[in-house]
Amino acid sequence: MADRPSAAEVEVLRERATAAAENSYSPYSRFRVGAAILLSPDERQSGEIVVGTNVENASYRLTSCAEQAAIASAVTQFGPGIRIRAVAIANLNGATCMPCGACRQTIWEFADADVPVFYPAASGDVVATTVGELLPAGFRLRTE
Ligand code: THU
Repeated sequence: MADRPSAAEVEVLRERATAAAENSYSPYSRFRVGAAILLSPDERQSGEIVVGTNVENASYRLTSCAEQAAIASAVTQFGPGIRIRAVAIANLNGATCMPCGACRQTIWEFADADVPVFYPAASGDVVATTVGELLPAGFRLRTE
């Protein structure tokens, strides 16, 4: 069962996601996305927030999403044992912005199904959902 973040923690997470979006490299779509992940405390860190932004490429399919960038950074900094406690996504375009399918599977790798995900609706409201609602039948590798 995920340890749900407080309203204050969610607010900070959203602010950090918005700040990360300022660094977006998105000359093709001009859609500036930021993601912030709150990590579960472990022996290597005490519940850090790690951010990412989208980095596009002239060869469009090489684009990395903000969520993927944040998770890659978290693993790079804190190792393969990280677990995600909450995710916030923001954009600077005033648009609805929920994680794409690939990002849902990437989050799933490091999060329990009940981990909350917060994303903006076009109205400006924040939508609160969970990893399991976004990806009801995520893939897990079973080799035996
Ligand atoms: N994008 C993200 O960063 N995260 C998502 O979950 C959806 C899409 C980025 C990729 C691309 O740079 C831009 O948004 C438009 O698709």
